[in-house]
Amino acid sequence: MKIVTDIIEMQNESIDKKRSGKIIGFVPTMGALHEGHFSLIEYARKNCDCVVVSIYVNPTQFGPFEDYSKYPRPFNDDCKKAEKYGCDILFNPSSDSMYPKNYMTYVNTENITTKLEGAIRPDHFKGVTTIVTKLFNIVTPDFAIFGQKDAQQTVVIKRMVEDLNMNVSIIIRPTVREKNGLALSSRNVYLTDSEKTGAPNIYSCLHNVEEKYKNGEKSVAILKKNMLAELKKTDAFSTEYIEFVDMISLTPVQQIIDKTLIVLACRTKESNTRLLDNTILHTAAHITNEEMH
Ligand code: PAJ
Repeated sequence: MKIVTDIIEMQNESIDKKRSGKIIGFVPTMGALHEGHFSLIEYARKNCDCVVVSIYVNPTQFGPFEDYSKYPRPFNDDCKKAEKYGCDILFNPSSDSMYPKNYMTYVNTENITTKLEGAIRPDHFKGVTTIVTKLFNIVTPDFAIFGQKDAQQTVVIKRMVEDLNMNVSIIIRPTVREKNGLALSSRNVYLTDSEKTGAPNIYSCLHNVEEKYKNGEKSVAILKKNMLAELKKTDAFSTEYIEFVDMISLTPVQQIIDKTLIVLACRTKESNTRLLDNTILHTAAHITNEEMH
C-alpha cells in the first residue's frame, strides 16, 4: 500500500491508473477505522481494480463547539488496517494543503442540508460537500462508496453528484453493527460504560418499528409515538429527533410510502456523544435493506 500526502502526487497516481484502464474505487473517511469502514473498503476491493482510501479529519464539517480537536486519530493503526482490507493507495493530505491561506470556495447543496442533522449542525453539510468535491477532483474515482449509517449524508452526496454532473457512481452500503445492534461509529469510543449498555436500545427500537410495520401498523403518527416512548425508557440518552421522511427530498411523510427512511439522533447524557441511526421501510416486504443497495 502506498501512502500519499501530496495532492498533485495523488492526482498523478489516478491519471496513471486511468490511462492503464484501471477502475478506481474510492472510500473517503476521517479515520479511526472500524468494521463499518472495512466493509466499504472490501466492497471496493471486490469491485474495482484500484482502491483509494482517504483519511482526513475535515475541519469545515465540524461546528465551533464540536469534537474536531479530540476526534480520534490512530493513524499508524489505520494504515495497517486499511492495507489488510485491500487498500492500494491511502491518501492523507494535510489541512494546510486542503485549505491553504486565502481559501474561499465552498460547495453548498440547498434545502435538504438544512433539515434533520443540518438543523442541529448548521454548515456541517457545506463542509461535507466541499471536502467530498475536493476529494473527487483529486482522486477522480469511477466509484465512491459511502455507508447507509450516515443516511442524510448519502442523500446529500447523491443530490450533489447529480446536480453538478459529477462523473462518479455513488454506491451505498448497509450499516455495520455490533452484535448488540449498536451502529459502529468512530465516536463510540467516547461512550461511558453505562452509555454502552443503553446505546443498543436505539437499534432495538428501530427493529421493533420494522416489526410493527410488517405486522400491519401503517400510521406514521402511531409508529413514531411508540418509538419515542421506547427511547424514553433509556436513561443514558435523550432523543434529538425521529423523523419518517422521503428518501430523496427528506420531507416528512404522513403515511408510509415505499422506501420511507426513518432517521433518528440521540445525545448521551454523560459523554455528550451524538448517536445516529436509521432504517428504510419497504412496502414490498420481501426486499431487505441490503438488497436495495
Ligand atoms: P466517517 O465518519 O469516517 O465515515 C466514512 C464512511 O464510513 C462514511 O461513508 C460513513 O457513512 C461510513 N460508515 C461509518 N460508520 C459506518 C457503519 N457502521 N457501517 C457502514 N458504514 C459506515 O462520513 C465521513 O467520515 C465524512 O463525512 C466524509 C464523507 C469522509 C467527509 O469528510
